[in-house]
Amino acid sequence: MKNLVDILDLSVEEIDRLIEVAADMVASPEKYSEICRGKILATLFFEPSTRTRLSFTSAMMSLGGSVLGFEQAGSTSVTKGETVADTIRMVAAYSDIISMRHPYEGAPIVASTVSRVPIINAGDGGHFHPTQTLTDLFSIKNKLGRLNNLTVGLCGDLKYGRTVHSLISAMARYEGVRFVLISPAELALPDYIKEEFLRGHDFVECESLEEAIPELDILYMTRIQGERFADRDEYERLKDSYILTRDKLGTAKETLSVMHPLPRVNEIDVDVDDDPRAHYFDQAEGGRYIRMALILMLLDSGRGIDSRLHGEPDKTLSCSNPHCITMTERGIKKRFIGDRCAYCDQKAKKREV
Ligand code: CP
Repeated sequence: MKNLVDILDLSVEEIDRLIEVAADMVASPEKYSEICRGKILATLFFEPSTRTRLSFTSAMMSLGGSVLGFEQAGSTSVTKGETVADTIRMVAAYSDIISMRHPYEGAPIVASTVSRVPIINAGDGGHFHPTQTLTDLFSIKNKLGRLNNLTVGLCGDLKYGRTVHSLISAMARYEGVRFVLISPAELALPDYIKEEFLRGHDFVECESLEEAIPELDILYMTRIQGERFADRDEYERLKDSYILTRDKLGTAKETLSVMHPLPRVNEIDVDVDDDPRAHYFDQAEGGRYIRMALILMLLDSGRGIDSRLHGEPDKTLSCSNPHCITMTERGIKKRFIGDRCAYCDQKAKKREV
């Protein structure tokens, strides 16, 4: 494995190994403090971030390596019209590994087709966020001691929530995991995620957080993401759909783990922060160590292109997702896996002839 574009690029065994190494890094950081001396991580953030960018930076520094990059595309030649592919070709010449976040879905796949160094997807639009999932799995293992036989409630924006999409695809591979999908109908999990990852799995969809809470082992709260809505009025109507309070935790298990990828806005009341089941800040802290383990694994995998771009050209199809990288990137080879776009995974439409 040379790139991490989708969490499924990692096998269950590789995830187990990353969690093991990350735990050792927490216990004995000095063993790893020089291991990446002379290596350079590039952090390319075309979209805002606090945790992901800074934990990647902290991770590489904790390994003895160096970091370069940008935190907004506005200061780069992207403003002059440079493509993602050309930007990545250049940065690959200046670094040994690249972590990138981009608002367009599938941008890291484009990057992986041209990069000579490993590409890590640090979030692409409303699509995937695999290193958040590694952070989440590390937290679940630490707090609950297992990744199987769990009832996982995911609450809030399941439509645009890339952390939810990646977490579901990862956890569906473990035995005995049941999903409770809590959202307003307008923000329900997209069909492609249900069809790809939940076919044959145990899941229910509901709108009431209060009704779902008692049976959950994990409650994964998410922010309603204003930046993903085309209709501002719809965002205003939905933004406070769920607010977890101390009172609502009254019916929850003592062993519940309350998680959140953060940032939060209103969806978890600050009163909950003191509850021993509130694990979201510990969860984010672990992101530094699991990203250290990931950087090491990818640097060990050696240089060379190993793109995840699958599928075939199909002149009868076109992607209709306005947030797909194929809408903006010049010179892209459009490909489809069955009737889905190979970049953003959304269902393609038949071209008018
Ligand atoms: N969880 C997460 O991706 O946070 P940031 O947007 O702050 O990186």
